Amino acid sequence: MSAKTITIIKPDDWHLHFRDNGMLLETVPATARCFSRAIVMPNLVPPVVNAEMALSYRERILSARPNGSTFEPLMTLYLTDKTTPADIRAAKKAGIVAVKLYPAGATTNSDAGVNALDTLYPVFEEIATQNMRLLIHGEVTSKDIDIFDREKVFIDRYLCHLTRQIPELKFVFEHITTSDAVDFVLESSANVAATITPQHLLMNRNDMLDGGIRPHNYCLPVLKRSSHQLALRKAVQSGSKKFFLGSDSAPHEKNKKESSCGCAGCYSAWSALELYVQVFEELGALDKLENFTSRNGPDFYGLPYNKEQVTLVRKEWQVPESIVLPDGERIVPFYAGQTLQWQIAN
Ligand code: DOR
Ligand code: ZN
Repeated sequence: MSAKTITIIKPDDWHLHFRDNGMLLETVPATARCFSRAIVMPNLVPPVVNAEMALSYRERILSARPNGSTFEPLMTLYLTDKTTPADIRAAKKAGIVAVKLYPAGATTNSDAGVNALDTLYPVFEEIATQNMRLLIHGEVTSKDIDIFDREKVFIDRYLCHLTRQIPELKFVFEHITTSDAVDFVLESSANVAATITPQHLLMNRNDMLDGGIRPHNYCLPVLKRSSHQLALRKAVQSGSKKFFLGSDSAPHEKNKKESSCGCAGCYSAWSALELYVQVFEELGALDKLENFTSRNGPDFYGLPYNKEQVTLVRKEWQVPESIVLPDGERIVPFYAGQTLQWQIAN
């Protein structure tokens, strides 16, 4: 008999994009619906490069919470070539928990990111000293490297060296997409963990390219071939403590996705938790769900588990075709128009 309800510790989302200003009135309530905390990406325009900017961004997020919500944003700092160890100390004092490394040009609003990773080792040392976490978008940006190989090449060029040089640095290899990344994380020490998105567990590159280009399934790192998808599914099925929930929910307006040069990102806040449940059920691994959604992340960050719980019921419902923003613009959510099997009970 398959379960009709599932009750778990209320999850956290260890990687997402809220954006800013008017968009927050959509994104913050959508996430607060099912997550107690979230690691908030700093790739705004301009990027969140110091403690002061992070604190004022935090205030804007808090103001967008629904009445009575206790949702807690966990703030991050955007690393640039100019970030100093003093910036890291100031960030720690301001309550910022993590520092985000975007290789310059790797993805949305990453132009101010890092050009020479090797020159930032003193900053990485300080991140370790301050017991903060480094969050790594692990793709090389060289145009001569095939886009499907950029994660593997990043491991070989940078991550192997980083783990050898600063073994005490706790870092998250974010939104991993390949068997190479799974193997790297499993072979590394307990200081290395990874987040995995719903789209990379549910899809492979055929779901983006077969029968027509599907821009709403386009994200970065790009979906890979099915053998990599299977490796990710095995990783979560294994119950390893090194993997945890990070939706990478990343809204872009409909016209910016459905374009001759469409933006990368899947806006999954409306369905992410339900889709993870679906994946764990398909894998016969519902007993591993709660650690992935609600314990492995806090353990890696040294934070307490949430006290609240959330219940999901087996009930069909349809993800909306589109969502209208306060300014009238539209967003097409991930899995738009599709029927899901699990729903959060109110
Ligand atoms: O698909 C993505 N969208 N990947 C990223 O790394 C960034 C994100 C965004 O900000 O839109
Ligand atoms: Zn992201």
